Amino acid sequence: MKKTIAILSGDGIGPEIMKQTIRLLTQLLDNDYFTLEPALIGGAAFEVHQNHFPDQTADICRRADAILFGSVGGPIRDAQLAKWKDCETNSILALRKTFGFNVNLRPIKVLAHLASISPLKQEILATGVDLIILRELLGDIYFGEHRQDIKEGKRHASDVAEYDEDQIASIAHQAFQIAQTRHKLVHSVDKANVLSTSKLWRTVVNEVAAKYPDVNLEHMLVDNCAMQIICNPRQFDVILTSNMFGDILSDAAAVIPGSLGLTPSASLNPSGFGLYEPSGGSAPDIAGQNIANPIAQMMSAALMLRLSFNEHEKAQKIEAAIEQTIAQGARTKDIAAPGAPWLTCSEFTDLVINNLALNTRIS
Ligand code: IPM
Ligand code: MG
Repeated sequence: MKKTIAILSGDGIGPEIMKQTIRLLTQLLDNDYFTLEPALIGGAAFEVHQNHFPDQTADICRRADAILFGSVGGPIRDAQLAKWKDCETNSILALRKTFGFNVNLRPIKVLAHLASISPLKQEILATGVDLIILRELLGDIYFGEHRQDIKEGKRHASDVAEYDEDQIASIAHQAFQIAQTRHKLVHSVDKANVLSTSKLWRTVVNEVAAKYPDVNLEHMLVDNCAMQIICNPRQFDVILTSNMFGDILSDAAAVIPGSLGLTPSASLNPSGFGLYEPSGGSAPDIAGQNIANPIAQMMSAALMLRLSFNEHEKAQKIEAAIEQTIAQGARTKDIAAPGAPWLTCSEFTDLVINNLALNTRIS
């Protein structure tokens, strides 16, 4: 059956890296395999509809089989303009809520030919980092009550962190099932020495773990995990954590490969519907110059093929063509050695597409 992909390019570098990713998808897939449905999101949507996440966009997403997302948001200096005010939360949190995306999945991998650009020492990377972070997306302090008021004559604020057992069990099952396809190790990360939500988290994760006796489970406190991600990231296979901790840990882990332009992510709901997006932001400082790195967006498209459409071979073809292009020495600006030559976003994509075409012809 023909697949419909909602294309939400958004702001900043979103449209340019999306354009290149679509070129790649068009090369890989037959026209009768997929239809692309562009829709506005973020500041780009605000300009037309005075709304960061208009109903038209929600409808297009609802009719689609998957969402491919670019990035949203504007320059920090313009954060108070109506176009950019609360743009990220109005777009991203609203999409998560509307479609019930409760799991964010972020694979972190150091590519063999790019080990030298990681900020970590080479001996720490020695045999390669390959971990995946599963972050709960719809609970915790993000979605509890947010208040700013006056208490005892002083300005006061509070944010409530909440979880129920079903929310925790749902993502825990996902984590164990993913671990079964990998190295069968889950690190569940919490702050159970202090927080009630973490105590419940730990209890429920232990209960779910009993159903997966082939997977090893370790519990780790979040402060220790922050340290371990930097000192010894190779010990991890699957990291399972709550919304707030996952937000922070996934950004810390995302710098390990050496550029935010390399890491894809997926947000999934319990019925398997997914949104796929690069982990980096809209990078307004380099937008419109054709110098952004399209790899994270392309890898996100590969994740979409794998997780939403069960097209493992096609996903693998994208990943292989990218790795081959890197192995041949091609670099975008963010991953080039200082002073070394680099390719524009579209030139780099030309090479990925060539490799893909050659490989397809050979196979
Ligand atoms: C992320 C972002 C969002 C979050 C923001 C933009 C609301 O940081 O996707 O990690 O905090 O979840
Ligand atoms: Mg974040």
